[in-house]
Amino acid sequence: MKHYTSIHDIDNIDTWIEEAKSLKSNPLKHKELGRNKTLGLLFFNSSLRTRLSTQKAALNLGMDPIVMNVSGDAWGIEFGDGTVMDGNTAEHIKEAAAVVSQYCDIIAVRAFPTLTDKAKDESEQVLKSFIEFASVPTVNMESATGHPLQGLTDAITISEHAKVARPRVVLSWAPHVKALPHAVANSFVQAMHKMDVEFVIANPEGYNLNPQITGDTVVYHNQEEAFKDADFVYTKNWSSFEDYGKVKNTDPNWMITKEKLGNAKFMHCLPVRRNLVVEDAVLDTDSSLVIQQANNRTFAAQLVLKKLLENL
Ligand code: CP
Repeated sequence: MKHYTSIHDIDNIDTWIEEAKSLKSNPLKHKELGRNKTLGLLFFNSSLRTRLSTQKAALNLGMDPIVMNVSGDAWGIEFGDGTVMDGNTAEHIKEAAAVVSQYCDIIAVRAFPTLTDKAKDESEQVLKSFIEFASVPTVNMESATGHPLQGLTDAITISEHAKVARPRVVLSWAPHVKALPHAVANSFVQAMHKMDVEFVIANPEGYNLNPQITGDTVVYHNQEEAFKDADFVYTKNWSSFEDYGKVKNTDPNWMITKEKLGNAKFMHCLPVRRNLVVEDAVLDTDSSLVIQQANNRTFAAQLVLKKLLENL
């Protein structure tokens, strides 16, 4: 594996899950692998989990992580080819990526979508530019359309907590006041397609995800029907894909409640808005796996970094 940009980079998810569990049981086993290697983490957007867990993963492998908030602290980066740079951007990605490659053995990038320009978001301009112009491997820490470190984490967490051989997993939309990206939901769908689970999606009319990603996954517009016999309910808000980036529905009846959840386990990538997306009575009980998920972010990242280090 040269880069980790999408769930499609996982050749065998079952093997990867077992490897991640092994790292979790002995996180410092490969402490020598990353000695004298530097991981550069570049954030164009906010983060708590990704920022800390990816650094922790690097430290567990003996790497030296260095972090930059690109949007706040770096020169404005130009991504357009042939642009006359007489506006707000001061440095081109061609130089920026080449320069950072001299300081780092692996580069990890977070860059969210615009949610206003569908074509630009679908083109994954920022992530693909780093892959093109950096001379070292690139890791996707959440791009315009995918969050594959989160998707791998979620697969590990489901594997750890499944009580039946083929659990029923529901990805459910929930209300939110802001327009949110599709990246987490997309990568979760792709991860579930690689696992042996009964996977369905629940979302209101007008909120179907990109059909090129969901494929023939069954989509319910009735949440109660979707939740019947569910073992895991993975909840996430996303803005409309069809009416791109719009908030068309904030119906509180789609919030996750203890009553709706029944015996299913609740999952969410975090951060989550309490009593808007999910009620306290879910998060404050054993029904919730969100803290366990966040813990697994370290081992998903550690597995990805280990595979890239082994291939340097
Ligand atoms: N789940 C996740 O990616 O969290 P952060 O946005 O805090 O990194």
